[in-house]
Amino acid sequence: VDRSNLQRVVALINGKGGVGKTTITANVGGLLALSGWKVLIVDLDYQANLGLDLGYHGTEVDDEGLALAQALTYGVTPKPAHDVRPGLDVIVGGAHIDAAAAALVSKAAQGKLEEARLSVAVMLDQIAVKYDIILLDCPPGNDMLQAAAVAAARYVLIPVKTDEGSLRGMKITADRLDSVLDLNPDMDLLGVLMFGSSTSATNVRREFSEQVADALGGAQATPEMRSEIEALVFTTFLRHSEATAKKARGSGLLVHELDNQVKAAPKFWEQLRAGLKPQSVGPASAEGVADDLQEIAAEVVRRIQEKEHANGDVHVG
Ligand SMILES: Nc1ncnc2c1ncn2[C@@H]1O[C@H](COP(=O)(O)OP(=O)(O)OP(=O)(O)O)[C@@H](O)[C@H]1O
Ligand SMILES: [Mg+2]
Repeated sequence: VDRSNLQRVVALINGKGGVGKTTITANVGGLLALSGWKVLIVDLDYQANLGLDLGYHGTEVDDEGLALAQALTYGVTPKPAHDVRPGLDVIVGGAHIDAAAAALVSKAAQGKLEEARLSVAVMLDQIAVKYDIILLDCPPGNDMLQAAAVAAARYVLIPVKTDEGSLRGMKITADRLDSVLDLNPDMDLLGVLMFGSSTSATNVRREFSEQVADALGGAQATPEMRSEIEALVFTTFLRHSEATAKKARGSGLLVHELDNQVKAAPKFWEQLRAGLKPQSVGPASAEGVADDLQEIAAEVVRRIQEKEHANGDVHVG
């Protein structure tokens, strides 16, 4: 694979489910598109929650992962769903992905492990030139698809919940990254992102950073190694708000779109005055969550640009 077009491929991955991979992929993708970038998201999950977050689930662009499955299995060039938002294209996920994953596993069993693991990279190589950034929403299970995503990625972003099980999941995820380094030696960890925290207290963040260093560095890590790992932890984390998350996913709106809708709606006293039964269009907490996601998007860009700068790569965008 010629990786020159794959320099801005970011995989959002964690072997553990429910840690914010899809939410962050959809919202960061939407925000970067809003800021003028050409964005592609690939939904590698049979659950296809991305289609709920972006609101295309069950519409005519929703092929339930058929095009993606054909691309991964037979090398057919995929046609992304175009402009799901202005500037944002999606290779749609869904039920068909399971068959594709099984086909890759049997390919691997026939001695073509490398070919199977490079299937996502080969697919993206055909279309990547059109995009400023490509985000891969990885499934929580399915080792083969996770490996293929990471083998295609220049950067990896690991969202983590602050409970112990999730931190252990992160260690397993890190080992999975190591296993494809021979195929993809330039792959780099963009960061670790704290998901669904109920507090923004500095000590929680510090404790989280220490736990990340324990999980990734192990017992032998030197203080220098530990502080390098701690620097991977995103400054911004995504605050907990079930009300906002539910409303956004349930209505196919990104969080900033939900926030705009909340702000544009008549206030409850205005509704009362107009003789209407007061109705809420969404929770006020959408604003804070939208702020977090904007800062996360900005931090993704900043971290990529810092790395490109350090590597002497020149990119426009
Ligand atoms: N800020 C938030 N606070 C609380 N819950 C949230 C928040 N953002 C998203 N959620 C909810 O948390 C759940 C998990 O989020 P999401 O689907 O993004 O995780 P995931 O890692 O992609 O999960 P999976 O591994 O199943 O693909 C979803 O129900 C989502 O609506
Ligand atoms: Mg998901």
